Amino acid sequence: MKSVYDEVYARSMQDPQGFWAAAAEDIYWEKRWDRVFDDSRKPFYRWFTGGVLNTCYNALDLHVDRGRGKQRALVYDSPVTDTVKAFTYSELRDAVARVAGALRRQGIGRGDRVIIYMPMVPEAVMAMLACARIGAIHSVVFGGFASNELAKRIDDAKPKLVLSASCGIEVNRVIPYKPLLDGAIELSAHKPERCVILQRPQETAPLATGRDLDWNDFMAGAPPAECVPVAATDPLYILYTSGTTGVPKGVVRDNGGHAVALKWSMGGIYGVGAGETYWAASDIGWVVGHSYIVYAPLLKGCTSILYEGKPVGTPDPGAFWRLISQHGVNVLFTAPTAFRAIKKEDPQGTYMKKYDLACFRTLFLAGERCDPDTLHWAEEKIGVPVIDHWWQTETGWPIGANCVGLGTLPVKAGSPTKAVPGYDVRVLSEENKDLPAGQIGSIAIKLPLPPGCLPTLWNNDAGYETSYLTKHPGHYLTGDAGYKDEQSYLYIMSRVDDIINVAGHRLSTGAMEEVLASHPDVAECAVIGVADEIKGEVPVGFVVTKAGVARSEAAIAKELVEKVREQIGPVAAFKTAIVVKRLPKTRSGKILRGTMKRIADGQEYTIPATIDDPAILGEITEALQGKGYAKTG
Ligand code: COA
Ligand code: AMP
Repeated sequence: MKSVYDEVYARSMQDPQGFWAAAAEDIYWEKRWDRVFDDSRKPFYRWFTGGVLNTCYNALDLHVDRGRGKQRALVYDSPVTDTVKAFTYSELRDAVARVAGALRRQGIGRGDRVIIYMPMVPEAVMAMLACARIGAIHSVVFGGFASNELAKRIDDAKPKLVLSASCGIEVNRVIPYKPLLDGAIELSAHKPERCVILQRPQETAPLATGRDLDWNDFMAGAPPAECVPVAATDPLYILYTSGTTGVPKGVVRDNGGHAVALKWSMGGIYGVGAGETYWAASDIGWVVGHSYIVYAPLLKGCTSILYEGKPVGTPDPGAFWRLISQHGVNVLFTAPTAFRAIKKEDPQGTYMKKYDLACFRTLFLAGERCDPDTLHWAEEKIGVPVIDHWWQTETGWPIGANCVGLGTLPVKAGSPTKAVPGYDVRVLSEENKDLPAGQIGSIAIKLPLPPGCLPTLWNNDAGYETSYLTKHPGHYLTGDAGYKDEQSYLYIMSRVDDIINVAGHRLSTGAMEEVLASHPDVAECAVIGVADEIKGEVPVGFVVTKAGVARSEAAIAKELVEKVREQIGPVAAFKTAIVVKRLPKTRSGKILRGTMKRIADGQEYTIPATIDDPAILGEITEALQGKGYAKTG
């Protein structure tokens, strides 16, 4: 017998327009679309052209208008400031309308870009929704990025205004944000006209006269702004993500397709209904935060949790269980790394037993490959289904999942289950042929992508085509490699590019290599992702110094670590740089990063036939062993 999933999936493939038009009925449109799907400018496909809506209206006002005003929309839980504060839909709508009014008073309107560089505070969520309310385009930059990365985003997005805060709090450390912002604006060619700073009591930032404005002054007397109708195809936000070089890619999200897909996903994938409590333990700086802290739960009429804390250390590995119990969380979404951290500190799950978790129904994991150990530990200790699912910044919502809302399929450890309705996922060979079950290839999605996925890169149609559409004509390149089994379960094994996943954060080793290469003593370098018990992977850098450099290797390594932290940010978690005499290369000069990674991870490897000098592999092994890697047996 066919499962519900099979039927729904087949329908989404046979009649995508009918499928998504039906899903779009769940959204309030100021004006209905002229065309569900528009392929008039291939390969830049658009969904719901001619449609007019407002995303913020659908996320807030609609629920107030339909009687959900007294329900909690957002619960801010911050163990690092000892705060719990809930906002009902009415309260959040009113607060957002005032932030929108304050933005408008600063001259921000439809199509203007606003950068949000803020910690996990309610004002950050309000800022995102306020932009959506007046048709401005937000671009949230994760707080763990340093000035240089922020500057790149300022130069690309060209914001009129930046919303920031005086500081973030990392467990018990106050991280001043303002110097990073000032540093970024000094570096950037584009200068935002205005910076609005939320002064937090833990650290007050000095304000630059003429440019900076205190959040309270920005808000004082601001009239509430109504929702501005925008085109379905207008950008809602830009979110930068790592590419293969130091230049981040500005992923664009539209309004119409995004609202339709995200609202559908709450029921279809997560099995969550209006009135339920949904918690994505991520950061608003990442796509998970955009989609599943802010937009999807609110579009669906859920209560969403905004957590300013960590899985461990704030104050203990029981933090997740405390929140689930205290706020009645039905569904939790986080990255496997968070569970590895909890498992390490509380292997017996002792803290879990202190809390009543009766409300907790399903755990979703994504952001990196979920190792079967972590999956089984979570299943066994929590006793709820643990669902791995796979997606990326570009798609904005899951590509592969066990769609709980369509009837949970049997879980296979190591697989995020099957393609989600709307996605025609293929495993392709170098020659663009579909590979049979069990064979690893490049995972691609046959065009068109479903609603919600990126229509292009910000101001860079050509970059969109070359990055994603050129490798496999007629398909979108996910950048992941893997296979399908006989039952069409997907297995996502690795990246085909130089992207690594550090604690669920996507980082480019190429970008780190650019930083290392800019050190005056460095002749050449390579950065690889090495397996890490908690973070999944961590970067390790190898450098060869220029002839004649006589400084101590330790001093150079320390400078390199500092340089990456300064130029990319602490989020890179770059803590190991090793000075070596030579790098292993093929005879044509290509650095053998894959072989180096296998050595570092203590895996068996074959000496590549094309290697220039196999003896170098021994030197690399020794160097890695000196740092505690390359353990065999
Ligand atoms: N602002 C400033 N600095 C930040 C930051 C922020 N928003 N977020 C992280 N950092 C810093 C951290 O303090 C740390 O700095 P350090 O090198 O001085 O210690 C560094 O960036 C690395 O952070 P992180 O990778 O988060 O490591 P961690 O050791 O602090 O925590 C985990 C490890 C596993 C607990 C943590 O990564 C986690 O909770 N992950 C959850 C998964 C997640 O959010 N994934 C996102 C996609 S779903
Ligand atoms: P990001 O754009 O930061 O969300 O990172 C997306 C990338 O993370 C994907 O392309 C994968 O490489 C990886 N990823 C995300 N979820 C999973 C998963 N469930 N299994 C394996 N890899 C994943």
